Amino acid sequence: MRTHKIVLLPGDGIGPEITEATTPILEFVSAKYDFNIEFKTKLIGGSAIEAFDNPLPDETLQACKSSDAVLLAAIGNPKFDELPRESRPESGLLKLRSGLNLFANIRPVKIFPSLISASTLKPEIVEKVDLIVVRELTGGIYFGKPKGRISSEEGERAFNTMSYSSVEIDRIAKIAFELAKDRKGKVCSIDKANVLDVSQLWRDRVNEIQLAFRGIELTHQYVDNAAMQLVRKPDQFDVILTGNLFGDIISDEAAMITGSIGMLPSASLSSDGPGMFEPVHGSAPDIANKNLANPIAMILSASMMLRIALKEFKAAQDIEDAIDNVLAQGYRTKDLASDNSNPLGCKEMGKKILENLSLIK
Ligand code: IPM
Ligand code: MG
Repeated sequence: MRTHKIVLLPGDGIGPEITEATTPILEFVSAKYDFNIEFKTKLIGGSAIEAFDNPLPDETLQACKSSDAVLLAAIGNPKFDELPRESRPESGLLKLRSGLNLFANIRPVKIFPSLISASTLKPEIVEKVDLIVVRELTGGIYFGKPKGRISSEEGERAFNTMSYSSVEIDRIAKIAFELAKDRKGKVCSIDKANVLDVSQLWRDRVNEIQLAFRGIELTHQYVDNAAMQLVRKPDQFDVILTGNLFGDIISDEAAMITGSIGMLPSASLSSDGPGMFEPVHGSAPDIANKNLANPIAMILSASMMLRIALKEFKAAQDIEDAIDNVLAQGYRTKDLASDNSNPLGCKEMGKKILENLSLIK
């Protein structure tokens, strides 16, 4: 029997709740399609700081490196905001991305027909949205050096460096063009080349890479314009290609088009090692442990993992169909519900999806 080794990283805030809603779903499809999933649960972020004083214990990194795929829920706990940056929960996530060389972050934004009215934008603006954000994940200003805080004559000064090499730009650009081949064949690269040298190199390299992808249409937008275009006419986009910081911002904006950031999964991939799958949303400490979280982004991340990393296509399809069905039947978590309805809790939404899954032939 096929066995897939999965590292589960429930992390912080709502992470453990959405993980608990997801594992029974993975167990169900593995039994149905005759494969084994070997789960190892490890600590990262705030929960790892509490246990080991380290947001990414070596044991966690090693387990991830020797897995077939990593399923992460969420990281972040404001309790640790006073710690030096290196010791905070988010550093654990950044070290893991960099330790696994996960340079390509793929964030699909697709509208569920039954959720069109949950968007804050008008139905005619969002109904045709089907785009992917391809975000460079291990470079740019998140990792650039020099960085730090120093005292200077004008008082304290702090700085980060936004830097990209042509190698880093080329490899992420290729991913975007490859993805566009199987979609509408359009890449829009987002930068700030009217101001930043790093963006000019980005644009030059993306133009160069396009020469090997003749059939693909390439456009460029400045990030300020792109932020505006995303709410003006989001269906103009197919594949959005961008760097780490712009991708972080643009992908939250794009997520909201679908009605809730609680719906969006993502994949972070390297060129050879295991990939990591995680919701786009964060740890939402304000609603943690209240059974209010929406587990759908996490469950969709699990189905992305089945599809991309484990090649369990039927299992992935079943999960996506079950989510479609549950939403079409009108079930909502609080983030998606209109004011006067009676939303499901995180646990109940997980169970509803599982129940629907068992009805699929
Ligand atoms: C994301 C998150 C992370 C990021 C944080 C938690 C470090 O916002 O995955 O988009 O900024 O990359
Ligand atoms: Mg973000």
